[in-house]
Amino acid sequence: MEEAIGQIQDVLAQARREVAKVIIGQSEVVDHALIAIFSGRHALVEGVPGVAKTLLVRTLAYLLGCTFHRIQFTSDLTPTDIIGACIFNPKLNDFALVKGPIFTTFLLADEINRAPAKTQSALLQAMQEHQVSIDRETYPLSPNFTVFATQNPIESEGTYPLPEAQKDRFLLKISMGCPNEAEEISLAERTLTREAPEALIDNNVIRPILTAERLAALRDSLDVITIQPELVRYAVSIVRLTRNHSAIKVGAGPRATQSLLLSSRVHAAIQGRSAVAVEDIRRMTLPCLEHRVILKPEFVIKGLSCGEAVQHVLQSIPAPR
Ligand SMILES: Nc1ncnc2c1ncn2[C@@H]1O[C@H](COP(=O)(O)OP(=O)(O)OP(=O)(O)O)[C@@H](O)[C@H]1O
Ligand SMILES: [Mg+2]
Repeated sequence: MEEAIGQIQDVLAQARREVAKVIIGQSEVVDHALIAIFSGRHALVEGVPGVAKTLLVRTLAYLLGCTFHRIQFTSDLTPTDIIGACIFNPKLNDFALVKGPIFTTFLLADEINRAPAKTQSALLQAMQEHQVSIDRETYPLSPNFTVFATQNPIESEGTYPLPEAQKDRFLLKISMGCPNEAEEISLAERTLTREAPEALIDNNVIRPILTAERLAALRDSLDVITIQPELVRYAVSIVRLTRNHSAIKVGAGPRATQSLLLSSRVHAAIQGRSAVAVEDIRRMTLPCLEHRVILKPEFVIKGLSCGEAVQHVLQSIPAPR
């Protein structure tokens, strides 16, 4: 058991070290991406263009020995474009399965809010069920299947923002900000050298640390990280309070509790702990709950954000000792 915990902690530490060679700064973002992957769930990613969203997912896929695919969502993208179809092959005089880009391990769904609801829900259903149906046949997706869906926060014209019910399917929301000045200088300098972030992957300067099979096995062994019953109750009470908070119109559902506990468990392993601590739950509350609450309009007008409301919920519950 201790050996299993040690292995998980070592792999997470190594992954963070290797990613940091490519991605400058953004350490919390990297942790949250690892938390989504190791929890076997999916992440919403928010950030302005050019903050290395694509590079982050590509780097993680490379390091963890997984395949990577990016789909640019557009207003004319159809479910078939994602999932695939049985297409008539005149040479064979028969229908042949053409698998879509969803048959990968890490899928970057770029600007998911540009596609109409039908296409979005095809992806979201596959995320939930880990399988897709094509012509009445069911095909399993990769065991480590993880979606990173970006939403463009600046332009809203001609977009279909994800409904709250769909956002609930994402374990957490990753917010990527711009690098600070020192980081941006480092990036600027490296861009002109062989140490340019992409070059480290393209030239095999960094090497994969896992295989997909090993990643699946490590994910399966995460239950060696324990959690005390009072901490489970603490997580439940945080989520439940979002449903009775004066500023919140719609609070988080039971999936939020599951997400909070799953995320806290990987967070504990990242911190080198073998059991979940209060600190893990507190740190994961904002990324797990922020995208699941809807504020009352009068509080939106006052300028309150969902994140602030969630922080307020967290502060109003005494942490167990
Ligand atoms: N923190 C960072 N660390 C390393 N490289 C970075 C960082 N931020 C930006 N870059 C560089 O900026 C470029 C843009 O990155 P990338 O294409 O991944 O951005 P993006 O967020 O996916 O943008 P878009 O929203 O336009 O798709 C890359 O070439 C990468 O080298
Ligand atoms: Mg990109």
